[in-house]
Formats: sequence, C-alpha cells, structure tokens
Amino acid sequence: MHVAIIMDGNGRWARERGLPRIEGHRRGAMKVESVTEWAADLGIDYLTLYAFSTENWKRPWEEVSFLFELFVEFMKSKIEKMKSEGVRLRIIGRRDKLPQKVLDVWDMVERETSDGKRITLAVALNYGGRSEITDAVKKIISSGVKDIDEQTFRNYLYLPDMPDPDMVIRTSGEMRISNFLLWQIAYSELFFIKKYWPDFEKEDLVGIIEEFKRRNRRFGGL
Ligand code: IPE
Ligand code: IPE
Ligand code: MG
Repeated sequence: MHVAIIMDGNGRWARERGLPRIEGHRRGAMKVESVTEWAADLGIDYLTLYAFSTENWKRPWEEVSFLFELFVEFMKSKIEKMKSEGVRLRIIGRRDKLPQKVLDVWDMVERETSDGKRITLAVALNYGGRSEITDAVKKIISSGVKDIDEQTFRNYLYLPDMPDPDMVIRTSGEMRISNFLLWQIAYSELFFIKKYWPDFEKEDLVGIIEEFKRRNRRFGGL
C-alpha cells in the first residue's frame, strides 16, 4: 500500500497559538518521524510526504531557508534511527535552485538508507507534478525514443518503480492537490481532514485506512 500526504497547516497551527510560522514547521517535522513509524507499524510499504513545492519559493526567503535548514537538520539527526528501523529514503523533486548542503544531504540519505526494506519514505522537495511531467518529456526527447505509451512514459518519472498512491491525504481543510503527483494520482482515493498537520495523530491515519477499505475502487469498471 502507498499512502501520500500533503502535510498542510503548519503556519495556521502556529498562528492560532501566537507562535511564529517556523514553530509550526518545527512541529510538522516532528510529525514526520511519528507518521513514518505509524505507517511502518500499519504495514504501509510506501509513504510519500509533500515537504516543499515548486510554488513554495514564493514565500519569504526567511521561511524558505528555514525549511531547508529543517530538512538538513532533520535528516542528519534521524538518519541512524531510520537506518536501524529499515526505512529507505528517497527524495523526489528538481535539484536545481536547491542549496548545495540540501543536495549533499539528499544524496547522503539516499545512499545510506538504500538497503531499507521495511518502508520506503519518499520526501517531495522542490517538487511539482507539472515539473515532473515536463522533466519526463525532456528526458524522452533527449533519449530519442519515439514510441511512447503510458507504461513507457512512467519510466521517465522521478521514481518509476514506486506504485501509484492508493490514497492521498491532505490535512488543514484545504481541498486541492496543489501540484502534487499529478500523473500518479489518476485513480487514488482522496481524503481531506480538517486538522492541521502538527495535530495529525495515529488514530487519524488508522481511521482513514479503515474508510479506504470501505470504498469501492472501480477504476472505470462496474
Ligand atoms: C505546510 O504548511 C508546509 C509547507 C507548505 C512547507 P504551510 O506552511 O502551508 O501552513 P499553512 O497552510 O500556511 O497553514
Ligand atoms: C502544499 O501546500 C505544499 C506542501 C504541503 C509542501 P501549500 O500550503 O503550499 O499549498 P497552497 O498554496 O495552499 O495550495
Ligand atoms: Mg499551506
């Protein structure tokens, strides 16, 4: 099973408590560690988390640079634990414009956790669904391949070996996709919950999976 999450609402979580937005991001990062454990415990094979979109560069530089700092610190401090728990980390997104230290950590975590067998955690960083599709088209053009169908197109996406998400969860009450995994979510089940990301709990994930099991996925059939 593949669960993808749009982790939204860190800023509003902080504002409601009179805290700076970055406090919300700090709490949100802590939640990433918890949700990875819950997902692994629940037998989820793939977890994809949206951490920074190609549109998030529009935010003030202080916030953007804090988010990169948080990514670097989080990965460095959790790498040993993730390795020992069998977490395989993969990063999806465009490398261009990212600071060198972010790229170094990107490479380091992928290399260090490549043997992880329990769960694959894909972190979407400087990620946009349209960029991913555009990048795939560029790769196809430069490869000279002429004969493309849906199956071969998939091979040019960032992680062709990952199955499509069975479900997409978005926290914070917003009901939109915000450029997340556009190709892959063609038939994913969508779940929107009101809670802000820092308030997301294991029981929320369990409840969503229960509801997922009750849904009838028809994939266009009867
Ligand atoms: C999600 O929380 C985290 C990122 C997009 C990096 P937001 O920062 O979008 O929080 P809100 O939506 O402003 O509350
Ligand atoms: C989506 O959240 C991106 C991430 C969670 C990383 P945003 O907060 O950026 O989305 P919009 O702007 O509300 O659509
Ligand atoms: Mg938001």
